[in-house]
Amino acid sequence: MQSKIDQYTAEISAFSPANADELETFRIKYLGTKGLLKDLFDEFKTVSPEEKRTLGKTLNEFKKFAEEKYQLLKEQSETSTDTQSDKQDLTLPGEGFALGSRHPLMLVRKEIIEIFKKLGFNVAEGPEIEDDWHNFSALNFPEEHPARDMQDTFFIKKGGEKGDIALRTHTSSVQVRMMEQGQPPFRAIMPGRVYRNEAISARAHCFFHQVEGLYVDENVSFADLKQTLFTFVQELYGEGTKVRFRPSYFPFTEPSAEMDISCTICKGAGCQMCKYSGWVEILGCGMVDPNVLENCGIDSSKYTGYAFGMGIERITNLKYEIRDLRLFSENDIRFLKQFKTEIV
Ligand code: DAH
Repeated sequence: MQSKIDQYTAEISAFSPANADELETFRIKYLGTKGLLKDLFDEFKTVSPEEKRTLGKTLNEFKKFAEEKYQLLKEQSETSTDTQSDKQDLTLPGEGFALGSRHPLMLVRKEIIEIFKKLGFNVAEGPEIEDDWHNFSALNFPEEHPARDMQDTFFIKKGGEKGDIALRTHTSSVQVRMMEQGQPPFRAIMPGRVYRNEAISARAHCFFHQVEGLYVDENVSFADLKQTLFTFVQELYGEGTKVRFRPSYFPFTEPSAEMDISCTICKGAGCQMCKYSGWVEILGCGMVDPNVLENCGIDSSKYTGYAFGMGIERITNLKYEIRDLRLFSENDIRFLKQFKTEIV
């Protein structure tokens, strides 16, 4: 009997079930009502009283050992994923996971780029940290122009080879970089982030996004500018959107204009978005000032060009009726998930 107990003890110690079925077989074999433990107890009844004294203790210890081992394995099998996988129904459909969506500003940026690409424009980018030359001087800003003031510009470093270093206040700086690097024709749009030192509110932010446009070649006229922008607006906001140009002033264009479109929300009838005027301003534009061409090493007696610049936030607000600029940078998922789109 002792040798049987030793043998079973070794077997039980080495036992490790691969699944719940094996564990159940183990239980029946050793602990079941007709199992080996029961056999041992039956056999125990037949041994001499002397043997009983020593074997009794051994047998009880063995019983405890076998039961504890079974209990332990059972607990393990209930928590282990291996044995749980037996219970899983592999034919069930998988759990879906939430798809992200594009940020509305990036959606509109993409749309703007696609429209201008169809019109033959390239896409270019420039640095967000700029020097005074590219952000102001080359663009014909007079020395005392208020835009250079600490009020608007985030300065990083005073003085430098090309003047103070600052965060660019507009993407017009990329025009300069492009023209400095070659000779006409240039036909490109330049999207990017810009920075201004303004208090954050529903209507202003310290950073926002712009798209700059530039076309320089021989015989480029204001009529070309109007036609391009008209086509752009029809594509972006739909056929029948009206445009109007109002004279304006920018240091880097002459003549300069601001372009309004018929309000996309009320179609011109008058609403809060257009302040009941029926028109909303969407961009600034004009013919590139000859001084700017010359500053960039381009012969202004041979070449002319037009330029325009628009804020992506403004274009987006008009497309999706968003009235608070802060929504764009708060990353509130309830706002962002309204722009569900195919991820491409
Ligand atoms: N840079 C101007 C701004 O930030 C926008 C602008 C106006 C760009 C007229 C141009 C332009 O290229 O011709 O307000």
